[in-house]
Amino acid sequence: MTDIAALEAELTAAIGAASTLQEIEDVRVRALGKSGSVTALLKTLGKLSPEERQEKGPLFNGLRERVTNLLAERKAALEEAALNARLASERSDVTLMPPASPKGSIHPISQVMDELTEIFADLGFSVAEGPEIETDWHNFTALNIPPEHPARAMHDTFYFPEDAKGERLVLRTHTSPVQVRTMVDVAEALKSGKLKADGEGDIIRIIAPGRVYRSDSDATHTPMFHQVEGLVIGKGIHMGHLKWTLETFVKAFFEVDAITMRLRPSYFPFTEPSAEVDVQCQWGNGELKVGEGSDWLEILGCGMVNNRVLEYCGLDPNEWQGFAFGCGIDRLAMLKYGMTDLRAFFDADLRWLRHYGFSFLDVPTLSGGVGA
Ligand code: DAH
Repeated sequence: MTDIAALEAELTAAIGAASTLQEIEDVRVRALGKSGSVTALLKTLGKLSPEERQEKGPLFNGLRERVTNLLAERKAALEEAALNARLASERSDVTLMPPASPKGSIHPISQVMDELTEIFADLGFSVAEGPEIETDWHNFTALNIPPEHPARAMHDTFYFPEDAKGERLVLRTHTSPVQVRTMVDVAEALKSGKLKADGEGDIIRIIAPGRVYRSDSDATHTPMFHQVEGLVIGKGIHMGHLKWTLETFVKAFFEVDAITMRLRPSYFPFTEPSAEVDVQCQWGNGELKVGEGSDWLEILGCGMVNNRVLEYCGLDPNEWQGFAFGCGIDRLAMLKYGMTDLRAFFDADLRWLRHYGFSFLDVPTLSGGVGA
């Protein structure tokens, strides 16, 4: 009995004297751990006679309970004191800037693609896509470039090995095959009755931005680059529509209202007539100003869709007309944002990306719209 009282007094004193969480833990192990003093007492119960056990059991268990409670109380008190001490000694300065977290940036090509999409969406164009590995037919033949045509030689094409039928796939050399795919789909939908074309509205109004490939490499050419294709097909579409659309695009893209644009006669197998588009510009101190000066900057190719192309795609040229254009996106980005070496676009050099990339929170949007 006195043993128990002495033990309780000793443990109570030890708990009261513990001033750290570690010291509390030490007392707990000493009393209630596997070979602790209270545990040892409880272990003796098994060897006692039933009468003795009835007498000692409640005493021992009462001791264990009181010691357990004292430990918990002391622990809570120490934890609270520790928290109060921290609160008293630490301050949070809510005026401090949070540490900068590493952020990615938007590549100028993605930025320009978004700008193009935004501008043409305002004009009612949707975005079409096609595969980068193309058939010879979609990339060349249906665009009125038959196998012996000299334009094929100009394209520095990457060919895949011939298949069993003697046909070879290509890495598309331009985005123009997306025109073909779109026209073929629409011609089929018209034929099956899925698409009804009564009235005057266009049946196609798309842009197709994407990657293209040619075996070419210097400061202004990389084997992979980007183009955007445009196509409008409807009834009574003429070059006036083409010119207005491109002028509206160029003004919105370069954010200059007073722009002089010229259509220069040119040749593409898939358009007739064909033209190249130049905008008025001035070079000064290595900087380009669009809409001023006496220089001309070539920015894209365009024309009225060649009747042969309409026929290849299953559209009757007596019923349908349209215009198309194709433009290098990388070049547009270089011109608008002042980069001089195209190869740096694809080096994945973080310093370049930090300098020329756009923040996703702070992208220049063409909030003025196309102002048509
Ligand atoms: N496909 C041409 C090229 O890669 C660009 C082009 C010119 C596309 C005139 C067109 C067009 O749709 O009408 O050089």
